[in-house]
Amino acid sequence: MLEEEYDRDRRRLPRHLRKPAPPEPGFSFTIRPFQERDLPDVREIYNYYVTNSVVTFDEKKWTLTQWREKAALLHKLGLPFLVAESPSGQILGYALVQPMSSKSAYRYSVENSIYLGHAAAGKGLGRALLEALITACEEAGIREMVAVISDKGAEASIALHEKLGFVEVGRMGRVGFKFGRWLGTIYLQKHLKPVKKRKGLFGR
Ligand SMILES: CC(C)(COP(=O)(O)OP(=O)(O)OC[C@H]1O[C@@H](n2cnc3c(N)ncnc32)[C@H](O)[C@@H]1OP(=O)(O)O)[C@@H](O)C(=O)NCCC(=O)NCCS
Repeated sequence: MLEEEYDRDRRRLPRHLRKPAPPEPGFSFTIRPFQERDLPDVREIYNYYVTNSVVTFDEKKWTLTQWREKAALLHKLGLPFLVAESPSGQILGYALVQPMSSKSAYRYSVENSIYLGHAAAGKGLGRALLEALITACEEAGIREMVAVISDKGAEASIALHEKLGFVEVGRMGRVGFKFGRWLGTIYLQKHLKPVKKRKGLFGR
């Protein structure tokens, strides 16, 4: 081993004390609010996981109409829906929040959803999108964010949420059945720091 290699390794901090890795060099993106023209890309990203994974419990691909209605509802409620776009205009991933429940006392709490195109995963984009989503929710006056994560095949999602301060608050076993096997859910929660007073969902 060369002397400088020895020094470099000796100076290396343990993993938990190191700064998060910056996004991979050459992999650049901008994060912006969702626009109607993103619908086909968002649908394609999500449907990949519907068809090929158990990270979502949906079993039927979502249609453009379903996505259009969902986007319109989130817009009406003033809830953040963000996309990450490559310099060439390709949508690499999205992150959104939706009401935890339609019951009005849940008005300060949301459930999040984050999906990246298969090729964009593992390069720091998930962290950047979730950080932007948290900031946007704090600006919108949201107080609690919950992630409901499959207990199979979603290690990256669990790791990402824990890195950003989400704490596991519960589990349910065998509540889903997909591809011939039983699946459970893991609940993670993060308290946000809202920067403005929100009237609440449903305008109340
Ligand atoms: C989950 C998902 C959004 C994470 O985004 P990502 O870009 O792959 O994650 P990042 O590269 O930003 O990594 C975030 C952190 O989690 C860690 N991490 C990522 N994948 C990991 C894994 N499989 N095991 C352990 N740690 C992991 C990274 O080391 C990183 O830590 P750091 O920021 O301290 O360096 C993305 O992988 C994805 O879209 N997966 C498929 C869909 C999905 O599961 N969505 C969530 C449904 S609940």
